[in-house]
Amino acid sequence: MFETLDRRNTRSAKWQMAIETVGHDQVLAFSVADSDYETAPCVKAALKKRLDHGAYGYTLADDTYKTAVLTWFERRYGWTTVKENVLVTSKVLTALSIVIESLTDDKDAVVIQTPVYHVFYPLVKQQRRKLVENPLLENDGRYRIDFKQLEACFAAGVKMLVFCSPHNPVGRVWREDELLQLIHLCKHYGVWLVSDEIHADLILPPHRFLSVGQYQALYDRLIVVQSAGKTFNLAGLQTANLIVFDKTARTRIKQRLARYFLQGSNLFGIEAVIAAYTAGDVWVDAQNRHVDAQAKKLETWLDKYYPTVKMTPLEGTYLAWLNVSALDQDGTQFEQACHDAGVVVSAGKPFSQHYTNWMRLNLACSSEQLDEGLKRLGQAFNELMKL
Ligand SMILES: Cc1ncc(COP(=O)(O)O)c(C=O)c1O
Repeated sequence: MFETLDRRNTRSAKWQMAIETVGHDQVLAFSVADSDYETAPCVKAALKKRLDHGAYGYTLADDTYKTAVLTWFERRYGWTTVKENVLVTSKVLTALSIVIESLTDDKDAVVIQTPVYHVFYPLVKQQRRKLVENPLLENDGRYRIDFKQLEACFAAGVKMLVFCSPHNPVGRVWREDELLQLIHLCKHYGVWLVSDEIHADLILPPHRFLSVGQYQALYDRLIVVQSAGKTFNLAGLQTANLIVFDKTARTRIKQRLARYFLQGSNLFGIEAVIAAYTAGDVWVDAQNRHVDAQAKKLETWLDKYYPTVKMTPLEGTYLAWLNVSALDQDGTQFEQACHDAGVVVSAGKPFSQHYTNWMRLNLACSSEQLDEGLKRLGQAFNELMKL
């Protein structure tokens, strides 16, 4: 499990972009958030079986599918809901886009908490909504929500918060007291709380993931958007779920999905999710142990060789978040130094304009791949220290 997989020549977006960026195929990619090892054996077996059938026609996300999703929520997160609240579409980004379009109007303000998954910026702007940033508070690489500023945004008329839970790229798994404070604040101002929970299963000990969905009794303007894409390396199969508790909102979102013929997903995505959510528990637990070991390896390596590079404590996701300002104060050199050393990481700037000298490193690879990556990253860091 979690062994090196050569993804070159497979049309992998991460690897193809890395090869094009540095100009050769010996590069190692630690950028885009998907995994460089095989999915769970139960998923691969289910896909193979379905592939062998030979007919790949229109396919329903039926009751079996929805039961698999809801029983996963129950087993893994300790809450569940009724099937009627579950809507199925292709990507999490499609779902978020449709939610914004359905529940807010042109020029309405939508808030995001930065630094955040970079696509949240165009997600809001492309719908012609006003993008409002509520930067997370950072202290020595540890992040928390700026509730005071968030309340000021709400008081100024923000209609929706697109929340990232766990938070990409800072790796926070939000605690119950934080979620409750957030929900109470949203309720007080009638703000829609849309929770992107795509990283929900990638949780490192001793942290515990809590979905905002479990607080539906407190406030019904909560929407959960999630998928098995990150957990089981299924992003290419494009299958995502929306959990919508409010009936009027659900009707509006359903109508919007129908307008663009986006209701439902695809055959292989549906089969993969059923298998993953029915029999993938043991594999996911093992993956979390693997990611934890990868994070510890990186932390130990930094402490030993580059103690001025600070890593944010990783609570969830498989994405490490590093402050490289000690090596590259204005953040103009480290990407090139990495490329020269044959390694591609994600630069901090797309996550927030204030994070130019930070970088994100994807740990979802084999331990050997990380070893080689660290060797190359070391070369890049040494070059930066000479400048
Ligand atoms: C927080 C977050 N949301 C959404 C996505 C994209 O999901 P999808 O490919 O299902 O649109 C990502 C991918 O990195 C992500 O990190």
